[in-house]
Amino acid sequence: MTTTGPTGSQRQTWTSNRGFILAAIGSAVGLGNIWRFPGVAYDSGGGAFLVPYLIALVTAGLPILFLDYAIGQRFRGSAPLALRRLWRKAEVIGWFQTMLLFIISVYYAAVIAWALSYFYFSFGNKWGNDTASFFVNDYLKASEPGISSELVAGVAWPLALVWVLIIIVLAAGIAGGVEKVNVVGIPLLVLGFGALVIRAVTLPGATDGLNALFTPDWSELTNLNVWIAAYSQIFFSMSIAFGIMIAYASFQRRRANMTSSGLVVGFANSSFEILAGIGVFSALGFLAHQEGVAVGELEGLTGPILSFVTFPAVISEMPGSTVFGALFFGSLVIAGFTSLVSLVVGVSVAVQEKFGLSQRVAAVVVGVVSAALSFGLFATTTGLFTLDTVDMFANNIGVVSSAIAMCIAVVWLAREGRVLRLHLNAISTFKLGSWWLPLIGVFAPTFLLVMMIQKIIDVIE
Ligand code: PHE
Repeated sequence: MTTTGPTGSQRQTWTSNRGFILAAIGSAVGLGNIWRFPGVAYDSGGGAFLVPYLIALVTAGLPILFLDYAIGQRFRGSAPLALRRLWRKAEVIGWFQTMLLFIISVYYAAVIAWALSYFYFSFGNKWGNDTASFFVNDYLKASEPGISSELVAGVAWPLALVWVLIIIVLAAGIAGGVEKVNVVGIPLLVLGFGALVIRAVTLPGATDGLNALFTPDWSELTNLNVWIAAYSQIFFSMSIAFGIMIAYASFQRRRANMTSSGLVVGFANSSFEILAGIGVFSALGFLAHQEGVAVGELEGLTGPILSFVTFPAVISEMPGSTVFGALFFGSLVIAGFTSLVSLVVGVSVAVQEKFGLSQRVAAVVVGVVSAALSFGLFATTTGLFTLDTVDMFANNIGVVSSAIAMCIAVVWLAREGRVLRLHLNAISTFKLGSWWLPLIGVFAPTFLLVMMIQKIIDVIE
């Protein structure tokens, strides 16, 4: 059905600008907002972290989001196709991005499957008192080989369900599937998560949690790693330089107002992230209060452990715990699912266009292959180690090199930066000033390069 060239396109489109914005927010707002941001901010200077975070948003996040939009909307293709049309040799950058999406989707789906199980477990606090061993030993059957058959009943069903739903949504198309899921999911998420945050900030001890999160440690601002953490968080959280926003923008109408939508998406994503920080840390303050310790003495404040070990412990302590548990894990499922949809769309549209497949066939092929890998890696072992390693590679090194390559290819090698800026300005109400090119052409690649070298040194050490 889809894809013809920049001329005479019958490419499918979102039904409205609102549909596009909701889908883009759905991609951006995900597990990264709920489980990644609060812990990163806490570890990196607390309230002071907001300074590098906002600077990263303005100097790299929004400018590269606009770049993604411009490439997709003008060249009308998934990352490999659109970049090839921009400059033949840039196609490889698109495939690199597609590979990152594929890798991330494989573990992202596993985490959503965990959240789905925990949604069910929250009816009656089925995780019991020792939430750590429930997650790592009982649920994931970690250190004990040979019990994978039991496990298949634990993780495999939710994982299968997630992948089946993904294939159904993708096969239904951009407007018929992806847009619908987001139009329903995002308002639901805002309501559910909003209720949860309101409940959390009214718990005893909430203020201690908020103080722990927001009390600024200004001395951290001279720490390069804090700046790196801010830029990494912005990239992952806004889903930029992964090729997804190229694909999503390619389904926009030709005269759609792109930059204004980008501002809405960026603002919504960061607001959700800060809201999540408030909710999560209020709840942690409550846990510390119940246990009679300081928030800083709690363990497991980041990553999967925060969501699947610490949070269940918080939930068990609460009056009305079922509702709170269902809201928390339900939010994780919805936020994660709409992001996973975008990850798999990125891969499947790229494959579809490369091999001239129909959208349905591409959705099924990509869905089945990714699901198989997801099962292989995460349904029979703990997966936590795999997850950390892959996450580190994809998010610290992978996406950063992709962003550097894309900026340099567009601005210096293909020399298309000016044209893209004119393109965006011709159709958008928010005009990009002359600051845009130096940001994506010089500042962002330089900073990202410094950041990547530092990360690699860290890893080697
Ligand atoms: N932005 C999503 C999140 O915050 C994750 C994501 C990354 C989605 C890359 C798509 C591409 O969780």
